[in-house]
Amino acid sequence: MSTLGISSPTPDPTTADAAVLHPHEPEAGDLAALAARTAGDDLLAPPVRLDDVVPAPELLEADPGTTFVLTGDTAIRVTTHPGAREVADHLAELLRPATGLPLPVADALAVDPAGPMTLTLAGTTPPPVTTGGSADLGAEGYRLDVSGSGVRVVAETTTGLFYGVQTLRQLLPAAVESPTPVAARWALPGGTILDRPRFPYRGAMLDVARHFFAVEDVLRVVDHLARYKLNHLHLHLTDDQGWRIAVDSWPRLATVGGASEVGDGPGGHYTKDDYRRIVAYASARHVTLVPEIDLPGHTNAALVAYPELAPDKVAPPPYTGTEVGFSYVDPADERTYDFVTDVLGEVAALTPGPWLHIGGDEAYKVKGEVYTGFVERAQRIVADTGKTVVGWHQLAPAAHVDGRVLQWWGTDTADPATADAVRRGARLIVSPGNHAYLDMKYAEDTPIGHDWAGLIDVRRAYDWDPGTHVTDVPTTAVLGVEAPLWTESVTSLADIEFLLLPRLPAIAELGWSPRTTHDWARFRERLAGHGPRWSTAGITFHRSPEVPWPATPTIPGQRPAAKSDTAER
Ligand code: ACM
Repeated sequence: MSTLGISSPTPDPTTADAAVLHPHEPEAGDLAALAARTAGDDLLAPPVRLDDVVPAPELLEADPGTTFVLTGDTAIRVTTHPGAREVADHLAELLRPATGLPLPVADALAVDPAGPMTLTLAGTTPPPVTTGGSADLGAEGYRLDVSGSGVRVVAETTTGLFYGVQTLRQLLPAAVESPTPVAARWALPGGTILDRPRFPYRGAMLDVARHFFAVEDVLRVVDHLARYKLNHLHLHLTDDQGWRIAVDSWPRLATVGGASEVGDGPGGHYTKDDYRRIVAYASARHVTLVPEIDLPGHTNAALVAYPELAPDKVAPPPYTGTEVGFSYVDPADERTYDFVTDVLGEVAALTPGPWLHIGGDEAYKVKGEVYTGFVERAQRIVADTGKTVVGWHQLAPAAHVDGRVLQWWGTDTADPATADAVRRGARLIVSPGNHAYLDMKYAEDTPIGHDWAGLIDVRRAYDWDPGTHVTDVPTTAVLGVEAPLWTESVTSLADIEFLLLPRLPAIAELGWSPRTTHDWARFRERLAGHGPRWSTAGITFHRSPEVPWPATPTIPGQRPAAKSDTAER
């Protein structure tokens, strides 16, 4: 734990006022009883503990005797700044549906810094805290204080404020996730959290190529990422089964190459406006899009659309199966590099984030120097767009280019080529197939998914260390962690959510939390409190037997979600 200006030690969660703070108990069965009590009853402890937050904060100091309760008079005050105002509006929009409270937002911090809920961008206004300040909060950190008179979030950036708001949301009872008003006591536990991430890159990948998913589904995935402080969404936009992004200079890629998917479905593609909508929604939630155009293999859909790119110049039939490694664009034809330049140029122009992912995996028919030659040209084309190249770790033998990032998806922990690429300057995103691939089944008897990389239960998703996972790759070369979700067997948003939850928060914690907080026994307890949140919000999840879920809460005034919609499948 760091000593970021908070001198008292973190209380031992096993002893901290255990008589008063009962983790999850009120969520467990009796929100109705809670709601029936008088709002503002100071003797009633909040149902959430400060140390229940996922991912675990870097440092926290509970003040067990203290509670802050939202009321009809509670207002949100925020530093006058457009980005900070956007975070404050986001907070109000999160809290209004369930609480039914007006929660007016005012850019009035400079005038009256003592409002009950304040979001302060340090640097524009002195932080309203006397210890710690915010000097070390960095690009994504925040400080959150809950006292009897208010809740304050301080950060150096709007991203830090946004993460403070995600924590604040978790400190309220699970009923806050209700889309309709609920009578409850909106209490937050007292104390201070000082928090910032371990790794700058924390992500998930959605394969929209094997099965196509509507924009609305992608936005919902962004919501899940933001909730757990994940800051990158990698979209696997192209594969053998479908091409999902409009490219003006090669229009048949989307219109012809997009008209298929695994099985008999119609496929589909994102227009440029669809893509811009995803970018904007993600950006408002501090999530950066990482588009992937998988090259030179995984390209059957492109060859269906443009047979001139095929080695034999003959259009293959659309592919709707699930094999890999058979297709490739012709590395010996200059027209292929026109295609790569045009496609990467248009995708780069649509994408505000710094990354452009060029795949590179499983190009089994493009071998040796032909493969590295292709990759080196593609890497230079990416550099010419002004973006930083990312690729699966098969890119490793190619020459280094500035900033190059490899994404490890192996199921062992040693790869001399990857270690050598790191020595030559590459950084690593760690996505081990046997820990982080969320398309792997939880257990033999769970539906959906695969098992080629093993079964991944919640503990397996949680119990590894991205900082030391790959042999001869130092923690300093690890940019972060990502959980890929391939969709050969995934056909609906409910399927996506079932595979993401509850494993996504495990991966999020590996990316965010200091290693000193790593503790499976505590993690599963903290995670348990999220089941009622997901149920209340209508989010599907796997009721993993490893997690001590509380009984499904009864939310007054809300019809219980249909069992087929949520929870166990
Ligand atoms: C991969 O799983 N082929 C990156």
